[in-house]
Amino acid sequence: MRIFHLAAECYPVAKVGGLADVVGALPKYQNQAGHQAAVVLPYYNRKFVQESEFDVVFEASNLLGTKRYEFEIWKERTNKLGFELFLIYIPGLLDREEVYSYPDEREQFIAFQLAFLDWINWSQQKPDLIHCHDHHVGLIPFLMKHSALYRKRLSGVPAVFTIHNGQYHGAFGYDKFDYLPEVDMNYAGLLDWAGAINPLASAVKCCHKYTAVSPSYLHELELQSNGLEYLFWLEKSKGLGIINGIDTEVWNPEGDPMIAAPIDADAPDAGKLANKKALCERFGLSPELPIISFIGRLVTEKGADLLPEAIQHSLDKHAGKVNFVMLGAGDKETEAALEALKEKYPDNYKTFIGYNEALAHLIYAGSDFLLMPSRVEPCGLNQLYALRYGTLPMVRRTGGLIDTVVDFGDEGGYGICFNRSVAADIEHAVDRAIELYENQPHLQLLRKRMMALDFSWNQSANQYINLYQSLNI
Ligand code: ADP
Ligand code: GLC
Repeated sequence: MRIFHLAAECYPVAKVGGLADVVGALPKYQNQAGHQAAVVLPYYNRKFVQESEFDVVFEASNLLGTKRYEFEIWKERTNKLGFELFLIYIPGLLDREEVYSYPDEREQFIAFQLAFLDWINWSQQKPDLIHCHDHHVGLIPFLMKHSALYRKRLSGVPAVFTIHNGQYHGAFGYDKFDYLPEVDMNYAGLLDWAGAINPLASAVKCCHKYTAVSPSYLHELELQSNGLEYLFWLEKSKGLGIINGIDTEVWNPEGDPMIAAPIDADAPDAGKLANKKALCERFGLSPELPIISFIGRLVTEKGADLLPEAIQHSLDKHAGKVNFVMLGAGDKETEAALEALKEKYPDNYKTFIGYNEALAHLIYAGSDFLLMPSRVEPCGLNQLYALRYGTLPMVRRTGGLIDTVVDFGDEGGYGICFNRSVAADIEHAVDRAIELYENQPHLQLLRKRMMALDFSWNQSANQYINLYQSLNI
C-alpha cells in the first residue's frame, strides 16, 4: 500500500510536540510491516534539513488567490528516517525556521496543501491512501472530492484524518475563500462551521474515516472540542480511537545516548540511580529526595498554570522532603511564575524554560515521578516515555491518560491518578508520591511493572493498517 502522511511536524525534522513524534514513527513501522509509507512536510530551514541531502523531484507553480507562486518538491536522498521524506519548498512562504505562529500561517498551510495536491495530481503513481494529521492539512479531503482541479483524478483516493488536538481548528474567514481553487459550490457547506471555513470540521465531514489518538479522547470530542461537539456526535460512525505508540528505537532506556547510564528493564534500580545522580548534579539537587518533574508546553491544556500554586503548597507542606524539576516553554505568565519560585526554594526547585530534547530524555530517566495535570490530553506521550524509563506517572484522568495509566491502588496498577485539574488534587497526588517514595520496595516493584509494559507502535500501527484495509484498498 502506498500511503502519504501529511502534517506540519515530524521528528527529527521539525518538532513542537507529540504530533512530530507520531509522524516520525508511525510511517517507519508501516514500512517495516511491508507497506510504502512516505511523509510530506513543509520545508523548514532547520538543522535536519541543512544537514541532509535532497533531490528536487517536481517543480511547478500555483495560484493563491491572484498571486502566483513557484514551488518545488524535495525528496531526502537516503530514506535515513525509515521512510521517504518529501518537503514542499515555496520561496518566501515555506522556507522559514519556526513551525507555527507566523501572521500568514493560513496562506502557508493552504499553499502547502495545494502544492501537494498538484504534485500527486500530475505524478504518474497515484497513492493508495492519504493520511492527514490535524487541521493544518484538513482541507485536503474536501479538495480531493469537490474541486474541479483535483476531483477527476483524486476523488477515489481514500483520505484518513487523525485528530491529535481537537482544540485547534485552523478556522478562517470567507475573505480567504478565493485562496482555494474552483470548488463545486453545491458542496461548499462542507467547508463551513459556524460561519467560517473550518479545516478541522471539513476534514471530519469529508474524510472516509477519522481517528482520535486515544479511545477516551474520541469520546471526549463529543463533549469538549471547542464548538465541534455536535459535529463529532453526528459523524461518530466514522470515528475510531487508536492509542499512539512510542518509537522504541528513539526512546530506548537501554541504549539512549542522551541519558547518563542504561536502565535495564529487568533490574532498573542501578540505572535509575545513575541517571538520578546525573540529573541532580546538573541542577544541584540532593539525590536522596524524590524528584517530581514536569515536561511540556506551558499552556492551560496541560494544566501548567496550576503548577506554581500546587508546587508552592507542596514545598511548604513537605519542606526539605521533595524536589521538583520543570522543563517547558509557552505562556509567558506561567513561565514567569515558575521562574519566580526558584528564588524561594533554591534547594528543592529547579526550572529550565525553553526546549531541550536531550534534557527531556535525562529528566524521564532520572526522575522518580512525572506530573501531568492536563485539562485536555488527547493521548499524551510523556507518560509513555516515563513508564518506559521507570518513572511513575502522576496524571489527571483525562483522554489518553485514562487509557494508559492505572492507579497503583488498583489491581495491577503503576501510576498515581487524580480526577480534577486543580491545585488541591495535584497536592494530594504529591502527598501520595512522597509516601510511596518512603516505601522503596513497593516503588521498586511498581518500577519493574511499568517497565514491562509494551506501548510500542507494533499494535497501533496494525490498527491503522486494518483501518486502511477496511476502506477496500
Ligand atoms: P503535546 O503534543 O500536546 O505537546 P505529548 O505528550 O504528545 O504532548 O508530546 C510532547 C512531546 O514534546 C514529548 O516528546 C515531550 O518530551 C516533548 N517536549 C515538550 N516540551 C518540551 C521541552 N520544553 N523540551 C523538550 N521536549 C519537550
Ligand atoms: C497532541 C496532543 C497529545 C498527543 C499528541 C500526539 O499534541 O496534545 O496529547 O499525544 O498530539 O498524538
